[in-house]
Amino acid sequence: MPQLSGAPLARFLTSGAENYDGLRLVRLPFVPELRMHLADDAIVLQARLEIEADTTFYPFWTNAWAGGQALARYVLDHPELVTGRRVLDVACGGGVVAIAAARAGAAEVTANDIDPYACAATAMNADVNAVTLRLVEGDLLGGDGGDAEVVLVGDAFYDSNLATRMASFLRRVTDRGATVLVGDPGRGHVPEHWLRVLRSYRITGLGAAEDSGITEVSVLGSAR
Ligand SMILES: C[S@@+](CC[C@H](N)C(=O)[O-])C[C@H]1O[C@@H](n2cnc3c(N)ncnc32)[C@H](O)[C@@H]1O
Repeated sequence: MPQLSGAPLARFLTSGAENYDGLRLVRLPFVPELRMHLADDAIVLQARLEIEADTTFYPFWTNAWAGGQALARYVLDHPELVTGRRVLDVACGGGVVAIAAARAGAAEVTANDIDPYACAATAMNADVNAVTLRLVEGDLLGGDGGDAEVVLVGDAFYDSNLATRMASFLRRVTDRGATVLVGDPGRGHVPEHWLRVLRSYRITGLGAAEDSGITEVSVLGSAR
C-alpha cells in the first residue's frame, strides 16, 4: 500500500487572515472535539485546484458535510458501536467520520476515498487530531468491505448512480454480518427500507454553504 500523507496539501494552508483561497484549521460546529482543515471559500479553492490540475472536479474534502458531522457526532456519543472493532469509513472526504471512530476507540480505522486529495486531507486531519488511520485510495464498492466489522458512510448518497452502487456494497457488508451506519441529510437516495433511522438531529448551517437549507440530518443503521 502506498504511504499517503497530507504533504501535497501543505501549500494550501492559510497563513494570514487576508487569504481566502486556502485551508484553515477549524473546530467543527457539530463535533467540536475535532478540528479539520476546511476551505475558507470552497469555490475559490476549487478554482485554484482546477487550474493546478488542469481538469475540473469538486473538492468534497474541503467541507465536513452535514451527514458526516452527524455520523461523527453519533459515533462519539455511542463509542460502544466501534470500540475495539475494525472500522472502514467509505467515501471519507476530509476524514471526519474516520477520525471520530478512531477517537471513539476503534481498534483500527481504514479511511477510503477515490480522490487522492481527499486521502491527503484525511492524513493531514488525522495528524492534527492525534489519531492513526490506514488510508486506502480507490474504489472499494465492488467488494464487501473486507474484514471491517463496522462500515461508516458519511453523506455519500448524494447522487443516484453512486447511491445504487453504495447500497449494493452495503448490502454485501451486512450480508456477511458487519454493521453499517450512514449519515444523511435527506438527499433522497438512502435505501430506507432496509436501513432504519437511529437518530435525527435538528440543525442549521452545517457543512457546505450550498447546504444552508438543510434543517435535519439523520443517522441510519442496519438492523443487525
Ligand atoms: C459529500 S462527500 C462526503 C465526505 C465525508 N464522508 C463527509 O461526510 O464529510 C462524498 C465523498 O465521496 C467520495 N466518493 C465518491 N464516489 C466514491 C467511491 N466510489 N468510493 C469512495 N469514495 C467515493 C467523494 O470523493 C467525496 O469525498
